[in-house]
Amino acid sequence: MADRLYIFDTTLRDGEQVPGCQLNTVEKIEVARALETLGVDIIEAGFPVSSPGDFKSVVEISKAVTWPTICALTRANENDIKVAAEALQYAKHKRIHTGIGTSDYHIKYKFNSTREEIIERAVAAVKFAKKYVEDVEFYAEDAGRTDNEYLARVIEAVIKAGATVVNIPDTTGYCLPDEFGRKIAYLKENVKGIDNAIIATHCHNDLGMATANTMAGILNGARQAEVTVNGIGERAGNTSLEEVAMILKSHKHIGIDTNINTQKIYGTSRLVSSLMNMPVQPNKAIVGRNAFAHSSGIHQDGVLKNRENYEIIDPQEVGIDENSIVLTARSGRAALKHRLHLLGVELDKEALDKAYDGFLKLADRKKDINDDDILMLVGKARSEKARITLDYLQVTSGVGVRAVASVGLLIAGERFEAAASGNGPVDAAIKAVKQIIHRQMTIQEFLIQAITKGSDDVGKVHMAVSHEGIHYNGFAANTDIVAASVEAFIDAINKFVH
Ligand code: KIV
Ligand code: ZN
Repeated sequence: MADRLYIFDTTLRDGEQVPGCQLNTVEKIEVARALETLGVDIIEAGFPVSSPGDFKSVVEISKAVTWPTICALTRANENDIKVAAEALQYAKHKRIHTGIGTSDYHIKYKFNSTREEIIERAVAAVKFAKKYVEDVEFYAEDAGRTDNEYLARVIEAVIKAGATVVNIPDTTGYCLPDEFGRKIAYLKENVKGIDNAIIATHCHNDLGMATANTMAGILNGARQAEVTVNGIGERAGNTSLEEVAMILKSHKHIGIDTNINTQKIYGTSRLVSSLMNMPVQPNKAIVGRNAFAHSSGIHQDGVLKNRENYEIIDPQEVGIDENSIVLTARSGRAALKHRLHLLGVELDKEALDKAYDGFLKLADRKKDINDDDILMLVGKARSEKARITLDYLQVTSGVGVRAVASVGLLIAGERFEAAASGNGPVDAAIKAVKQIIHRQMTIQEFLIQAITKGSDDVGKVHMAVSHEGIHYNGFAANTDIVAASVEAFIDAINKFVH
């Protein structure tokens, strides 16, 4: 019988640390439900002591999902652990993930401590967490740069203290696959009691080796992989869930299975990308737009003769149904509903009607409507519930003339209007909005991206606006880039105007 690899998804904790990609609690619940349907074993829902928002998300995710274990992160101190236990109170299966840095860098420069004292703190944290939950995972932060002999001592001590899972993170993404694999093998061979715990990998992608290192860990005895959807995460990101799942599915001879329903991979990837406003790079393995696109004549000819000539994965295995990717103005409400279902989004009748209205309007302007467009429409329906919304926008601009914009905003249902001129259409429209919203605010970042290609494409705008020293991120997508810019500005304002 095949061995089992547990998939520990940290999209909502490590993944969510990407600047500008924070989700609110409702969005996190949506992702957690999609992860449950995808079949992940453990959802790391947050770091409860870090903010009231994170605490609330762990509470609400615990209530919203049934099968996966819900995990909360802590540092190795009593207060963090107490707060995590409280946040997990509604989880049907719960785990506390506690730990401390074990590399000499961390011991010396982060904790100003000694190796012996770090072991004592690690053991104390695990014992304290055991008072609240049975399932305690210990992480040895920067294990990638921790010498194996000392790491083995730490791991042996925490297993003796009751750790059920021992996490060996390559926090800085430094290890080579062979080196990381030997580290796991060393622990397997040298830690007394190692069979009483599951060894976990947690690899970062700073040198592009996160998945390779994770696989090396698995091949040497790790049975939990810590991953994120689309490989998102701080800096260069974390190991990608979809890559590990498909490697094990494609290489059956390894003899290790996961519980992932691979046909849900594509929909989950799109959902996370859309909610986090984080486009997937086109050549990303498994879920990138070009992952299955053969452009060279030789390859196209080969695939037409027999798909397996050049394709190692049938796109349908990861939920890409090429016939249903594009919707057009002739597609009905049922087609939209079905497509949303495949993307992991379920809407009630009212929300579906609203999304369909938006869909028809967009289809008038854009010939083919793809998955990103559809998710953008759903996101728009959500933002319409915001306090401030854009009622209308009219802009005149051109070469050799100053741009002029008229803007109407609805604030709690009441209409406010203003007009302004500027050195371009966006500048004029933003100045008009500022005439209505009298707050001190400065645009710190302004990023425009095309989602796919073509002059009828939807453009996505990310804007960071600072107000009283805090940065607020706003996002919007629209075929009209000036409208998208104003909507992104308003989205950011909605986060501090109540
Ligand atoms: O990368 C890391 O070391 C972590 C730990 C907190 C598990 O994210
Ligand atoms: Zn990490």
